[in-house]
Amino acid sequence: MKYLLSLLAVFPLLIVELAHADDPDPSLYQRLGGEPIVTRVVEQTIRSMADDPVVNRSFEGINLAKLDAKIVLQICALSGGGCKYDGDDMKLAHQGMNIGQREFYALVEALRTALDANGVGEREKNELLRLLAPMKRDVVSG
Ligand code: HEM
Repeated sequence: MKYLLSLLAVFPLLIVELAHADDPDPSLYQRLGGEPIVTRVVEQTIRSMADDPVVNRSFEGINLAKLDAKIVLQICALSGGGCKYDGDDMKLAHQGMNIGQREFYALVEALRTALDANGVGEREKNELLRLLAPMKRDVVSG
């Protein structure tokens, strides 16, 4: 009887455990809002850079839709969304563009604004920025 009672006590816990068995902590990609939000955030960031005469010189003549798609893929891969980034590495992609600190921080600012505009939380925003920050040394050369 005692055995049965302890089994009954454990049973609800077991059910809760099983219910979450295939539901691990959501990835950063999921918490950012997945594909629809990441796509919107990237599009808004790149458009804002391309429309800003102070920092848009390197975006002239670039196929922005293609660039958006590469960056979405890269963010998906970086943030645990399960994508495989198939673009150039950051050094090669920005080679010869002479990108300066000011331009790099302008992009970070544009990204912050787009993340805020799409309701991404503080924690997720900072996690994403922390993932991108180390790329500065490969992007900035001017
Ligand atoms: C952490 C910051 C950055 C990330 C993660 C990033 C990411 C990327 C990616 C994934 C590509 C596409 C590579 C490919 O086509 O295979 C790319 C290309 C490009 N990036 Fe960045 N980028 C960053 C900073 C910047 C900055 C600061 C600028 C200019 C102000 C910039 C301008 C460009 C341009 C113009 C291209 C297109 C190059 C081409 O198609 O010839 N990027 N970037």
